[in-house]
Amino acid sequence: LTGDRPTGRLHLGHYVGSLKRRVEMQNSGEYDEINILIADDQALTDNADNPGKIRENIINVVLDYLSVGIDPSKSTICVQSALPALHALTFYYLNLVTTARLSRNPTVKAEIQMRGFADEGLPAGFFTYPVSQAADITAFNANVVPVGEDQLPMLEQCKEIVHKFNSVYGETLTEPQIILPSNKACLRLPGIDGKAKMSKSLGNCIYLAEEPEDIKKKVMSMFTDPNHLRVEDPGKVEGNPVFIYLDAFCRDEYFAEFWNDYSCLDELKAHYQRGGLGDVKVKKFLNNVMQEELRPIRERRKEWENHLPDVLDILKEGSKVAKETAAKTLEDVRHSMSCLLYTSDAADE
Ligand code: TRP
Repeated sequence: LTGDRPTGRLHLGHYVGSLKRRVEMQNSGEYDEINILIADDQALTDNADNPGKIRENIINVVLDYLSVGIDPSKSTICVQSALPALHALTFYYLNLVTTARLSRNPTVKAEIQMRGFADEGLPAGFFTYPVSQAADITAFNANVVPVGEDQLPMLEQCKEIVHKFNSVYGETLTEPQIILPSNKACLRLPGIDGKAKMSKSLGNCIYLAEEPEDIKKKVMSMFTDPNHLRVEDPGKVEGNPVFIYLDAFCRDEYFAEFWNDYSCLDELKAHYQRGGLGDVKVKKFLNNVMQEELRPIRERRKEWENHLPDVLDILKEGSKVAKETAAKTLEDVRHSMSCLLYTSDAADE
């Protein structure tokens, strides 16, 4: 299982950090079940005043999934708010974590600062969303969770909840493993401004559905090595976003196609480091690479945009299947906690 908050269109950071891996996993045939959750309720935890934005972006996110190659016949795409069992699980799990432990979650801590909650007051729902995420993961008995590095603290917290639950109520929940991107450049893709993370709120993203002209504009405006002032100066490739993007996306074939002065990225890097290679040339090459990578994604998206009723059906079908899966886990959980008597089924009998 993995998931995304529907707060906007998905961008390159999502793609290299998780989406690409999901498609590989889906097509490897090694997993008997793949679930992808659109976490609209989690998105509400810091957007309580803007449910319209979330509603609108649910469909954007499904379109992004379909356009990168998520195949609904192999992966189940579902919406969090359609799975009431997740809320019940969250309520039970909340008793298995302390507020002190929640306060130490580094991702939540950083987000509290970023969203200004430190001054304005912290919504309790936001503070506890790692617990709701543990419900998402365990509801599907997920053994692997492919996500970006920023989600590591969520997975750690989920594992703790699983241990606690299993030790108090007996073996019930599956312990998940995180799967991080194998390519270092993909762990955390910087923004085009060189800031540590590509993020909508920082306004430094290249979106998956971006038009060719906008991709070009963004690539050509990218932050590079600030000390590489003249062409003849030696340049730095470490921490240089242009080279980090090349690490993430460049394949040797692209040199044959667009820049046959070099045969591979290492040769290009060596020249840049020696000096004598200007940023504009490297950016032009990166633009060619990005255009090649994003064209098929954009085209597939446009096709699906012409079949929106089908997209909605995919989501409805997936949510129906997922609802059953989550309900079954809730039943197991209540059984382990000896609360089964109080499920609606039992009450009906
Ligand atoms: N917190 C994740 C993010 O912001 C989204 C998410 C919600 C998720 N539930 C999940 C990720 C379960 C993995 C598994 O990107």
